[in-house]
Amino acid sequence: MISRRAFIGMLAAGGAVAWIRLDSLERAAAESSAIRTIYLEARVVSWELGPGRTIKAMAYNGRVPGPEIRVREGERVRIVLKNSLGEPTTIHWHGVDVPNPMDGVPDITQKPVQPGETFVYEFEARPAGTRWYHTHVQEHRQMDLGLAAPLIIEPAEPEPMPYDREVTLVLDDWVTGAANVLPSTREGTAGGRGRMGGMMGGMMRGGGMMGGRGMGSMMGRGGASHEPAYDTMTINGKAYPTTEPLRLNKGERVRVRFINASNEHTHVVRVGGHRLHVTHTDGNPLDSPVAVDAIPIAPSERYDVVLTAEHPGAWLLHCTQPGHAAAGEQMLVLYEGHSTQRPAPPETSLEGLRVWRYGLGRGRPIGAAPAEAVRTFEQTLSGGMMGNDLWTINGKTWPRTDPLALARGEHAVVRFRNMSMEAHPMHLHGQSFRVVAINGVRLEAPLAKDSIDVEGHMGSAVVEFTAHNPGDWLFHCHKPTHMDGGMMSLVKVR
Ligand code: C2O
Ligand code: CU
Repeated sequence: MISRRAFIGMLAAGGAVAWIRLDSLERAAAESSAIRTIYLEARVVSWELGPGRTIKAMAYNGRVPGPEIRVREGERVRIVLKNSLGEPTTIHWHGVDVPNPMDGVPDITQKPVQPGETFVYEFEARPAGTRWYHTHVQEHRQMDLGLAAPLIIEPAEPEPMPYDREVTLVLDDWVTGAANVLPSTREGTAGGRGRMGGMMGGMMRGGGMMGGRGMGSMMGRGGASHEPAYDTMTINGKAYPTTEPLRLNKGERVRVRFINASNEHTHVVRVGGHRLHVTHTDGNPLDSPVAVDAIPIAPSERYDVVLTAEHPGAWLLHCTQPGHAAAGEQMLVLYEGHSTQRPAPPETSLEGLRVWRYGLGRGRPIGAAPAEAVRTFEQTLSGGMMGNDLWTINGKTWPRTDPLALARGEHAVVRFRNMSMEAHPMHLHGQSFRVVAINGVRLEAPLAKDSIDVEGHMGSAVVEFTAHNPGDWLFHCHKPTHMDGGMMSLVKVR
């Protein structure tokens, strides 16, 4: 028998099972000496997104999304990546403050892992929150084909906001060739200027809401970008009706961790009949939950919400962007005793609804207090003009973009201005930042995030951080076509 007080944690270390004492002073020592080892293999598999939509995917351990990794804050993690693909790959730990050589950026922090090779990542898991991991090689192919998965870091301290159980939902977009091509989301919606990104974007793109495949891709080619012809949307690797229902018991509070692993699309999620209480932005806790009806989630963003089961019945959790629910992005939400009921169809109108925007949240302070030394960087984002795929920062494309050079401890203020028509979810590696202003309006309490969606058409965002993690860190748009088109720079922390 094991006493509950003395032994409450168990770690699977390198396949062997180790019991860890979690009481008293021994806890810290036990945790630092134990390393949790996880094995991941990247390889090509055949994956059924839904009926008639089986694709050749790239997967971690044969699953799309890859296996959810769950660790405790501060725990030492070793991840052994075996590359069984026919091409090089790496893994980036998105939102985790890893040491620079573990960051997974090919030719900057490591050599790409060649076919047949193994690479060992090792880091301390922090900060706590909904993080994720994905390939950082040829994301427009490898991430698009499935190399992405949740990484949940459970906090050492108790969670600030109560819930009874949790689920993780990974949203993704796919090209299968089996269905109608979807409009892209161009302008972004999280800044809150009230534009409906998907609808406007779709119209501007000329494809219309459900333009035929040939038409859609033709317009894509001739239009502003060479974006792939996305036609299928999934939740946890499945398109409706293959999505797994969320089953609820009346009264319970379910924490839902949304991760948008899509390459191109912002999703605006809602649950029929329920409000969602936003508790975390990109994994970092808000001061207090914000009740909304729908949440725009840009590529690479995460939102944690609490759903209180207080309206028994059968409902749908779905995306409100035009065409997305029909393309598979919906799942049943079924209360106990209501599983044969049919839910009302998904609605795309957001009229009269309270939609999340950055300005609604009050963040908690993160990281070090602002230092004395402040450096300001202006970053003007443009590109995508008339059929070209060049995306620039201050008029330059990667690798010619100017790095943001900082000494450790220095405070950086980065002011983004978006002169292009499309939104750019800008992601910083190695540490999170504080979002202090959006579209010229200061936030009352800065939000802690690692991706900020800068809206199209002169949208702006100001973020700041105190450089604490030394190394060369990518700061880039998370849309792979834009990365490839040059929208990347480096933050160099000495
Ligand atoms: Cu999600 Cu460069 O990363
Ligand atoms: Cu972009």
